[in-house]
Amino acid sequence: MATIGIFDSGVGGLSVLRQMRTLLPRERYVYYADSANCPYGDRSRDFILSRSEYITDFLIGKGSSVVVVACNTATGAAISELRARYDIPFIGMEPAVKPAALGTGTGVIGVLATSGTLKASKYLDTRDRWSEGVKIEETTGAGFVELVESLILDGPQAEDVVGRSLNPLLDAGADRIVLGCTHYPFLLPIMKKIADKRGREVRFVDPAPAIARHLRDVLLDNNLGLEDAHPGVELFSSGDDTILKKLYSQC
Ligand code: DGL
Repeated sequence: MATIGIFDSGVGGLSVLRQMRTLLPRERYVYYADSANCPYGDRSRDFILSRSEYITDFLIGKGSSVVVVACNTATGAAISELRARYDIPFIGMEPAVKPAALGTGTGVIGVLATSGTLKASKYLDTRDRWSEGVKIEETTGAGFVELVESLILDGPQAEDVVGRSLNPLLDAGADRIVLGCTHYPFLLPIMKKIADKRGREVRFVDPAPAIARHLRDVLLDNNLGLEDAHPGVELFSSGDDTILKKLYSQC
């Protein structure tokens, strides 16, 4: 039986969990939101690494045989060390620069992510690999995580905050926008609304479905689960879990 541990700085990883449950509904999932320490975006690498180790120990204690780091920022800061330290598979997030670069018609793609992710060598390597002939415009989604953590996913405040980061990417001509933070897919309806209002045909690229397929492959390759698990989801938080439960019920 596979128990899949999954964590994020907060509720954002639920956008990955819902894709995993769609593809693999019969597994058991244990989700940990580090809500007491959210956001991770501007925190030091050492801090994120030590939280990631603490949470991994917790998830293993709950029976996890594989851990999904459903946080781009923690993936960039900690995944190499986690893989070196623990003897279980880890699946990390990868901003979907490749499909965006291959699919663009205007030759301009936008990347929305936290400042931590945009500085991480993992992201910089991916960007360099796919930047030939493509202009890559990057920006942090300032205030996006706070909106999602407060469950403000629509309305004038959300439109204003999201527009401030999204509009410069649209102004630059981006027709593919990479969602490089797991909180951002929850703001997709408002992003589409802003692009529609401007009459722009934009595709937003979320890596979560590809992460779910990767998880399936890892489970198969390691002979873990897929058949006889006791399906279900357990939610844990280092802080207040009200929003976590509410957002999960909408997923
Ligand atoms: N959801 C996370 C990510 O993918 C972290 C956002 C944050 O805590 O700043 O980057």
